[in-house]
Order: sequence, then C-alpha cells, then structure tokens
Amino acid sequence: MTTSPTTIDWWKSAVVYQVYPRSFADSNADGIGDVRGIIDHLDHLVTLGVDALWISPWYPSPMADGGYDVSDYCDINPDFGTLADADALVARAHELGLRVIIDLVPNHSSQEHPWFKKALAAAPSSPERNRYIFRDGRGKNGELPPNNWPSVFGSGAWERIIEPDGTPGQWYLHFFDVSQPDWNWENSDVIEEFDRVLRFWFDRGVDGFRIDVANAMVKESGLPDLPEGGEEFGELVGDSPMWDQPGLAAIQRRWRAIADEYADTPEGPRMFVAEAYLPHDRLVRYLESDRLHTSFNFEFLISAWKASSLRTTITESLAAHESVGASATWVLGNHDNFRPVSRYGKEISGLDFSDPSAPHARFHGTPTDVALGRRRARAAVMLELALPGSAYIYQGEELGLPEVEDLPEETLQDPTWKRSGHTDRGRDGCRVPMPWSGSDAPYGWSTNTKTWLPMPSSWAEWTVESEHNDSSSFLALYRTLLAERHINPALGAGTMSWNESSDEVLDFSREPGFRCIVNFGTKDVTVDAELVIASSTPLETRGGRVSVGRDQAVWLRT
Ligand code: NOJ
Ligand code: CA
Repeated sequence: MTTSPTTIDWWKSAVVYQVYPRSFADSNADGIGDVRGIIDHLDHLVTLGVDALWISPWYPSPMADGGYDVSDYCDINPDFGTLADADALVARAHELGLRVIIDLVPNHSSQEHPWFKKALAAAPSSPERNRYIFRDGRGKNGELPPNNWPSVFGSGAWERIIEPDGTPGQWYLHFFDVSQPDWNWENSDVIEEFDRVLRFWFDRGVDGFRIDVANAMVKESGLPDLPEGGEEFGELVGDSPMWDQPGLAAIQRRWRAIADEYADTPEGPRMFVAEAYLPHDRLVRYLESDRLHTSFNFEFLISAWKASSLRTTITESLAAHESVGASATWVLGNHDNFRPVSRYGKEISGLDFSDPSAPHARFHGTPTDVALGRRRARAAVMLELALPGSAYIYQGEELGLPEVEDLPEETLQDPTWKRSGHTDRGRDGCRVPMPWSGSDAPYGWSTNTKTWLPMPSSWAEWTVESEHNDSSSFLALYRTLLAERHINPALGAGTMSWNESSDEVLDFSREPGFRCIVNFGTKDVTVDAELVIASSTPLETRGGRVSVGRDQAVWLRT
C-alpha cells in the first residue's frame, strides 16, 4: 500500500476491496466460503494493487440475511472459521501492507441473539424488552401493528410475538427481515455493548468498521406513522421518521472518540465508513470532523450511464464533501446491487431513489446487452479510479463478472424473494462464488461441486487464472489502473477540474499532469497517441492520433 501504518488518513485515497466471505473461497470443501479461504487468496489482492479489504459480516449468524443478522458480535461464524483464523487474517493482511475493515451491524441483531431471546422471555416493559423496540399493537385487541412502517425487504416492519404465557402479545420492530429485530438506541445497555464490540475488534488490530445502515439506528420518538403513500422505498430517503434522525450524531461522536483512542497504536487511529443511502447534502453531515471518517457515495452507483447524470453526481459529490472537509468515495457495486457489467447493458442503467418500484425488481428480467455492458463497465472503472478520493471494488468486479440472472428459484436465499411474495428475486445474483481457476464449476473455489449458490457453467473465461493470462482482460485493466494509482501523484485524494468538452463527454484534469476522458457520445474525441497511459478498450491510431469512441475511456499524461 502507498500508506504506511503511520499514515493516519490512509482512507482518504485508499482503494478498498470488498470480500463477501461466504463467496470468496472455500478452504475446507463444505461449499461455504471461509476465513482461511480469504487468507489463502490475499496474494490476489496484493497483485491487484488494492490498499485495504472490507469483509462483510463474519459473525455467528443463522444467515437469514447473509450474516447481516448477527447472533454474537464478538466471535466468528463456525462455518467461516474461528477467532484464531480472524487474528491470522488480520496479521497476514498487515504483513502484506493491507488494511482490514470489518462490518458492524448496529441497527438490528438476529432473533437468535441472547438478548433478544431474553427479551421474548421477559415481561412487557421489562429492561430486557427495552433493549429492542417492542410496542403494544393497535386495534381492539392489539391485533394491528403499532404503526404503518414498511420493511425494506417487503411488507410491514412489525411482527407480533406470542408472550411467554402463550397469548398473542406485543409487536417488535424490524426494518429488514422478521428475523432481524431493531435495537433500541435509546437504551444504555445497547450503547455500552457496542462500545465493547468496537474495542473488542480494535484491540485485535482491525483498522476500521463499515457501518451497516448507518442512517437507521435512531427512530423519531413516538414512532409516528408515515404520511399516506409514503411507504414506498422511494420515500425512505427524504424526511422520514424512520431514517436519518438527528440523534445519530451523538452515537457517531461517541464512536469517533473510541476510534481516536487508538491513535498511539502501531495501526494508528481507526476509521469508520458509513453505509447510508442518502442524498449528498444529508450524507456529508455524517462526515463532519468529529463524526465519521468517510461514507459510501451511492449516488454515483445509482447513476445511469449518462454523461449528464454522472457529471452532476460528481460535481455535487465533490462540492458536498468539500463543504465539510471530507474526502469523497466512489463505488460501482457491492453485494446488494446488480453487477455493473449487467446493469450498464440494460436500457435503463440507473436506479433512481424517487422511483417507487423496488430496485432489484426493476432490473430482473429486462434484457441486457452484455457486450455493451462490459465495454461501459471498463470505462466506468477508469472514471471511478480517476476521481479524487477513495474507491471500493466489490469482489468479482475486477473479473467483469456479470449478474447471474437465471439462478433457479429453489436456490434463492435472499429474504427479499420470500418477503416480496416471490416478485423480487433479490440479491443472490451478485453473490455467486468467485471463479478462481480451471474450466469447470466450481472453478477452484472449492473442491466440493455443491456450492452454496450454484456457479454458471459458462464462467471458465472469467476465472482469475484465465484473465491473468489475457492482456485484454478486465483483470489486466484493473491491475494497470491500480498500479498507476500507486505511482501517479495526481491520483488519489486531491482536487480535479473539468475541461471544456461536449455534453456527451466527461473530460477532467488532475494535477500534476493527468487527464481522463470518457466518451458517451457518437462523435469521436481525438488525442495525441503518445500521451496515453491506459484505455478501457483498444484505441484506433491514425497519424499519431488516437480516437476515443463511444463508451470508451482514456487516461492521459499532460
Ligand atoms: C445493508 C447490507 O449491505 C445488506 O446486505 C443488508 O441486507 C441490510 N443492510 C440489512 O442489514
Ligand atoms: Ca468452507
């Protein structure tokens, strides 16, 4: 990594690789990815040239939501390994110069968490119940939910319990699956427990946490109904009693102080990256200097493949981040979103939050032009990695893996599938195991052919091994770009300036001496061939000039 352990603000320019542990590599042939599998393949991350890895939840969990349903925050899921394996991973990653970020899931636990079990066994209004959000129902016999809030995964956000005496009783709140009860962040046990969780992992050397649904933990007091018609996903990001409440600031400041306690350790102060689907102006409040360090910038991910939309998103992101002195981040995909290669090949390639239909349902079943999607995804990563700030790469993006859109229904595991009444296939299509080598499934991922999600028979071309031997592969492009980021002082944190160009072209400079051009239009842009550092696809040269065509990107020295 370019940052040494003493570089305290490494996260401002880092390229972070997201590992989805269940799907990265299976070391013991049980068909489930694991921590040893990650350790065995850390060399892939080093050769790729990233600075850090972020590991999606690896905690004990019944896996009702891929591990975002945590039953013990201070241990490792036995399917994934042991605490000793986790320690070995952190140690090995640090030896290799890689930072390690893990996932904190503070909005909800699993229903298998011992405190939730205690809450169910205790009486209404007991201290045990108060750690979660229990309420009496409405209606004559409490048979109606306490309010009209929806679950992100479909239908209502409340579940009625059977009281220990066998009668139908109170309801508990769950923003996500029914098996994921929301914590009560007004309860001091909860607040103190999460302090302990942070220190537990910081003491083991992890460099930071990604905070799951960082805009959800605090709810408006009194839990008022959403206005009529406000139950759709599109409303969840605006003024809503469910999201982005002022009380979040105090929790963020408390956590920042804990991360800063580690300033004098070899790893330096620790960091937080927030997951929050919010417009820029709301998001950057989380990044004030005494709150969180950084945050995913999903407006970039959800933008359609259109020069105007990306230009606006980039300009607004940078201005908003600058207003609080924070560094921006860029992300094209993760374990919740349709893979870029497939998304950019769709007629509608963006996700607009104001669109009321569920985001995944919008993409499923619509035709994809895969060749077009691949061409655009290559240009997109050149844009992403040329922008000021840090960037996140989701495992498999560096191979150009497509979304697996035809997983058999009986193999689908995402709770969205069930909760949407089998109308939204959910996110399994971007969670299929990584192909490493060989010509048949499971492509070196495991020695067991029964993988937790089936792998397509057509992936021989997209393995790490096959792409390593192909200079025109996605992997070769990613390695080139990341290597350049390490040696080129213009890239990473810093500023950028737009150059004059047609509306269909994004053209900007970074100092010293770097320029990026992405062409979305039908008219070629020509530049001096000698200046080219990298291009998304091969360029046509004529008389010392090269033409950058539609859906192509180029990095230049100036
Ligand atoms: C966001 C996570 O990325 C997603 O996978 C999960 O389902 C929800 N938060 C709930 O934890
Ligand atoms: Ca395994």
